[in-house]
Amino acid sequence: MDIQRKEELFEQAKQWILEAGSHIRDHIDAPRSIETKSNPNDLVTEMDQQTEQFFADKIRANYPDHLLLGEEGFGDSLEDLKGTIWIVDPIDGTMNFVHQKRNFAISIGIYEDGVGEIGLIYNVMEDVLYSVKRGQGVFKNEKQLPEHNDSRPLKESILTLNTTWLIPENPHVEHDSIQELVKTIRSTRSYGSAALELAFVAEGIVDGYLTMTLMPWDYAAGAIMVQEVGGTVTRADKGELDLLNSTTVLACRSNIYDEIIDDYVQLKTKESDR
Ligand code: IPD
Ligand code: CA
Ligand code: CA
Ligand code: CA
Repeated sequence: MDIQRKEELFEQAKQWILEAGSHIRDHIDAPRSIETKSNPNDLVTEMDQQTEQFFADKIRANYPDHLLLGEEGFGDSLEDLKGTIWIVDPIDGTMNFVHQKRNFAISIGIYEDGVGEIGLIYNVMEDVLYSVKRGQGVFKNEKQLPEHNDSRPLKESILTLNTTWLIPENPHVEHDSIQELVKTIRSTRSYGSAALELAFVAEGIVDGYLTMTLMPWDYAAGAIMVQEVGGTVTRADKGELDLLNSTTVLACRSNIYDEIIDDYVQLKTKESDR
């Protein structure tokens, strides 16, 4: 993407994400309308929907030739990744938003012909914005994050994992080998927002993030950030991420990547069969 165009798009997206975040903060204590989607724990609120609608209106009014891929149904249905696509999660961590009123983020990834060019992850209640322009570094607010230091071995690493991995009935992974991984590493964390967890991998405060099912809007921005600081992001079978479907994701420091997948991640179902 042309440098000047990237700069302009970035500034616009940044202005909108800060505006949307400020609106959420101002209404954090307002009465909530909470509905469920695919199961009783899959929550959506009026704020998820209003926020995605806000981005849809802005993008369509200002960039009529761009496309939007969003979680809550206000975007476009895409058949391929051609053109400029905004991949938006209006609230990532809706359960945290509802139960905790914190620990959630707005995530925007802007891709051109399938290449991630711009990423923004806004931790709304802490007013912390992680941002990246591909090739120009990752920032936490105004401060540039350092490239990953790859000297720490797996046994001294912290991984963010969600505990559904440890349930024997999990249809996708051999839980015994994941238990071995958990015993091997220093510790685990689970923050409940994929976007923030990926930003934390980019920041280096955790060493990796491993998950069984994410949608493109969960990781579109975070994947660009992790790669920009030298980390590796793929499916859990080492395949390339597929921005049009749900996917497994491993994002981590590059020096622990092979060891995690080769020694500990045994998928029971092939990605193509899921
Ligand atoms: C969810 C969060 C959560 C992850 C789920 C996602 P949502 O997104 O990122 O951490 O484990 O897979 O669906 O629904 O809160 O936007
Ligand atoms: Ca959701
Ligand atoms: Ca999400
Ligand atoms: Ca969401």
